[in-house]
Amino acid sequence: MVKEVRENTLVLIKPDALKNSLTGYILSMLSEFHTGLHFAGTKIVSVSTLLAEEHYEEHRGKFFYPSLIEYITGRLHYPDEPWKRRVIAFVYQGPGAIKKIRDIAGPTNAHDARVQKPGCIRALGTVVPVKDDTGKFIGDRVDNLIHASANATDAEREIKLWFSPTDIPPYMRDYTAEVCDRHYYYKDAIISPTHVPGSIGFLAPGDLAWKSDLEALQLHLKGKKAPCSVNTVAAKYLINMKNED
Ligand code: GTP
Ligand code: MG
Repeated sequence: MVKEVRENTLVLIKPDALKNSLTGYILSMLSEFHTGLHFAGTKIVSVSTLLAEEHYEEHRGKFFYPSLIEYITGRLHYPDEPWKRRVIAFVYQGPGAIKKIRDIAGPTNAHDARVQKPGCIRALGTVVPVKDDTGKFIGDRVDNLIHASANATDAEREIKLWFSPTDIPPYMRDYTAEVCDRHYYYKDAIISPTHVPGSIGFLAPGDLAWKSDLEALQLHLKGKKAPCSVNTVAAKYLINMKNED
């Protein structure tokens, strides 16, 4: 018998879905009954600009990038109610998880979703014109309710960006974790092994962390080139730490 490979994927229920009370609907669509998948992690996140920029790094420089950051941080949908700015993050797990959830989410553009795949989640989204500071139309913004990882490499990067190992039950944890053996402090994209004024301690000896994060941090401490930035590692430890304007 061929053993089915367990996949992981990151799902974000975005601020427009929360605003339109679509959370329950989306979770029903993704339920074990409909997909055969299980959720392995969940958290409610007030998305900082730091986390938003790390998550959507691949889109930096595109015309829609500034509005994408405003969107995922919740500032667009809740300009005057900062306490409502949040997304719900999930790790979903099971055979074929990435494709199954991308299929149920549907095409990126909500108009395309309605035409090409009526009934998919993003068919309930919307497209909003974006203007520059002078009021000139520069393109559309796509409010599409849900994020779902596009492939296994993205899924691993994104899950490690949003979740610590201990956010995921050990039986469901598929990326290697290791016990940290030193202190790490963060301030303005710089890490230090000792506290400096204004820095935040984010890892201490005995904490469980992603092995790849610890390896990257050790390289950064030595001033060497690492596979990911300090912000990529630190962003998840700073989740829900403090309010942002
Ligand atoms: P995510 O699951 O959110 O990553 O969407 P995706 O994988 O279907 O699309 P992609 O990663 O290419 O884009 C990320 C987000 O940027 C989308 O969800 C949209 O909100 C926005 N976006 C992507 N492409 C376009 C575009 O061509 N125009 C506009 N206005 N927004 C876009
Ligand atoms: Mg994407």
